[in-house]
Amino acid sequence: MKALVVRPGTAKSAHVAEIAEPRLSDVPDGRGVLVRTLKVGVDATDAEIDAALYGAPPPGDDFLVLGHEVFGVVEEVGPDVTHVKPGDYCTCTVRRPGSTLYDQIGRNDITSDETYFERGINLLHGFLCEKFVDDAEFIVKVPVGLAHLGVLAEPASVCAKGIEQAFLAQSRLQVWKPRTAFVTGAGQIGLLTAMMLRLRGLDVSILARTPNPGLKQEIAEAYGARYVSTQEQSIHDVARQFGRPDLIVEATGNSSVAFECMQVLNLNGALVWTSITAGDKQTELPTDTINLEWVLGNKLLVGTVNGNRTHFEQGLAALALAEAMYPGVTERILTHPVRGIANHAEIMRLLTEDKTALKVFVEVADPEPPRPPV
Ligand code: BGC
Ligand code: ZN
Repeated sequence: MKALVVRPGTAKSAHVAEIAEPRLSDVPDGRGVLVRTLKVGVDATDAEIDAALYGAPPPGDDFLVLGHEVFGVVEEVGPDVTHVKPGDYCTCTVRRPGSTLYDQIGRNDITSDETYFERGINLLHGFLCEKFVDDAEFIVKVPVGLAHLGVLAEPASVCAKGIEQAFLAQSRLQVWKPRTAFVTGAGQIGLLTAMMLRLRGLDVSILARTPNPGLKQEIAEAYGARYVSTQEQSIHDVARQFGRPDLIVEATGNSSVAFECMQVLNLNGALVWTSITAGDKQTELPTDTINLEWVLGNKLLVGTVNGNRTHFEQGLAALALAEAMYPGVTERILTHPVRGIANHAEIMRLLTEDKTALKVFVEVADPEPPRPPV
């Protein structure tokens, strides 16, 4: 079968290759789930792997199948699989267990191994191919009514985990009732995070570079959030105007912004960092002031990455609630479909050059998949 692969370590190496078809028996103990891939979302991670900034092939292979944000339909299940059946829509988690205690309790998203195993990113093949097989543990059912948003399940899991981590960590304060939040960045992570914080009733400001008016502003406002272009107002201006935020979720991909956020967080606040920054940027900062304010203000910084199946379930639940609260808004994020993996040059061009591409996704199979039997 055909797959979109790269040669890790070689820049701009994306190409279509022929790889072996997966079989249900590739997963032992009757726990296999064979999935036909329908759509795969792509993001900066895929572009950075194709730029050879990171990414590694599975041992023994010299290529890596790309793609970690999958939406598919179950074709076949092993005898020990009960939570999905053929015809069900599904997604699949990204990270696989390593060796630590966290991995052993199903929390491979917080492994303390230096090496992590992620499908389509590091040491494991991804989903940009016709079919894949995985253990039932990693297959998450997507409700039929969310099929049109299924390709956002993985990014939604990342956002759900970030928010969950902030609230869990803030239980240190015994009572934490955040009222205002800033979300920096208005890519898929920024917008979905803003949506989830609106569902919790927070006053949300999204701060991002893209000037107003535009689609990002429209989506933000349809979720009941404020959209501020940082070309017009700085983060300090916004904090002065609307108050210092109790929670900031940083999702710009820019490490200077991540540190700038430290200067506006409210007392007892939490700052969540989600950006993967593969560069080597250096920035000068007022470290004495930041240090003093963070100590005197009992502030908290949380780094968060990935998500396990409970975060996928939380993400899907938020997507469903958002459809009820803000009908039709979330699908506006899905701006740039690309038909077929053969169009890899177009995929990479959209990811790296097209500033209007909010969410790029690949229609690997029929874009309007058949509804499963009820
Ligand atoms: C993915 C995460 C992954 C992270 C680090 C992100 O693009 O969405 O699942 O953990 O990259 O590789
Ligand atoms: Zn990603």
